Amino acid sequence: MDKKDNIILAFESSCDETSVAVVKNGNEILSNIVATQVASHQRFGGVVPEVASRHHIEQITYCIQDALDEANVDYEDLDAVAVTYGPGLVGALLVGVAAAKAIAFAHNLPLIPVNHMAGHIYAARFIGEIKFPALALLVSGGHTELVYMPEENKFQIIGETRDDAAGEAFDKVGRVMGMKYPSGKEIDELAKTGKDTFNFPRAMEKEDNFDFSFSGLKSAFINTVHHASQIGEKLDKADLATSFEQSVVDVLSSKTVKALEHFKVKQLILAGGVAANQGLRTRLDKELTAFKDVELLKAPLKLCGDNAAMIGAAGYVAFKHGVRADMTLNAEPSLEFEWMVEK
Ligand code: KG4
Ligand code: ZN
Repeated sequence: MDKKDNIILAFESSCDETSVAVVKNGNEILSNIVATQVASHQRFGGVVPEVASRHHIEQITYCIQDALDEANVDYEDLDAVAVTYGPGLVGALLVGVAAAKAIAFAHNLPLIPVNHMAGHIYAARFIGEIKFPALALLVSGGHTELVYMPEENKFQIIGETRDDAAGEAFDKVGRVMGMKYPSGKEIDELAKTGKDTFNFPRAMEKEDNFDFSFSGLKSAFINTVHHASQIGEKLDKADLATSFEQSVVDVLSSKTVKALEHFKVKQLILAGGVAANQGLRTRLDKELTAFKDVELLKAPLKLCGDNAAMIGAAGYVAFKHGVRADMTLNAEPSLEFEWMVEK
């Protein structure tokens, strides 16, 4: 290890993945251990907070050891410890925060608090350097927002969902189709084989703002399926998946294009669990051909879902900006981006 290298041990435990990573210079993954609990939550059709916390407690020490071993580093090689402290499930967050604090305290290392959503955005650092000003379309199971970043470590939410997050809508309609939680990936696969025959609503598409809404689409979908089952009609599952996905992709891409017309940015970053959606990735590739000066940075497929490597990338940026926490750091389940652009 070069002495000048910056090595961060990063923690992520905001929802249903326990993850510990070792990240070098904010853009190189030395290890990224992700212990997923999805199987434990599937029978409930969603994440059960108490079950999540227990799993994190059981897994975290193994994850720390695996992350250090795989990266071939020891505590003496570390420059800092970064941790997600919000937003997320309070009991789940607390496990990562407590572990990170213990290691920072025991080894006298700086502790860097990281916003989970900033982590998703900075996953793009593993693809290429982020150039500012930038715009991020952040689409996950809990959030759907357009974030303007005039410079590094500064965030302004310019638009967000008024109701359900995009990933949440995928999971809810998947449940109605009898799919396992989380169903985004399965719907995405099925959507490749069908046609948009149902023409579901595109909410707020024509409105002059950057906000989204997915609850009307979800209701329209559920009503269609229930009505068909009441009259004994069999609907084509692939067409349902394609029609649903097309509606989500249309709304996400039209608002993103509107934002790109308004904010002159160098890059568009696509991040969060739903950023893995093939329909969305292909559509944005196409839309971006009209914006010759805007580069599209898509978070790597493997890093779209929750993981600690992205927290290491965001932690590195925060570290360079002097962001530090002390031993009073607590989990903040409703944490928002702190910094806002002055109008
Ligand atoms: O970012 P993430 O891992 O966790 C949160 O912070 O919420 O996002 C998880 C969400 C789930 O709702 C899942 O169904 C969705 O991302 N997802 C997808 C795809 N892969 C995961 N949604 C659509 N298409 C996909 N390929
Ligand atoms: Zn997430």
